[in-house]
Amino acid sequence: MEERTAEIFEHGFTDHVLVCTTDRDGEYACCADAHGQAVLDAVQEWLRERGVFWSNVHVAETGCLGLCSEDGTAVAIHPRGRWYADVTPADVPGLLEDVFGPEATRLGVESTAE
Ligand code: FES
Repeated sequence: MEERTAEIFEHGFTDHVLVCTTDRDGEYACCADAHGQAVLDAVQEWLRERGVFWSNVHVAETGCLGLCSEDGTAVAIHPRGRWYADVTPADVPGLLEDVFGPEATRLGVESTAE
């Protein structure tokens, strides 16, 4: 094991956008059946359009966030501690504008990590 925390902060990485894409068979809803991949694509596209895809923000697919719904995908943004359920691709621009600003100028601004 190698801790690389200092390296990550030196590169300025501060925010994680986690998009649930969990797929499972069973009686409970899962994000793969509720736009998970399309929401992930929309997040990446929004960041690319603003030229900040490779910036402070890491976008990652994640397993179940405990917000399962058949109406949309679960998204979490950390370390801001923001959690969303029922996210559709159409919701993504407004969600990210609210968190990062319309032109993504608030990347890492609200980070609590030191
Ligand atoms: S399957 Fe996505 S939050 Fe549970």
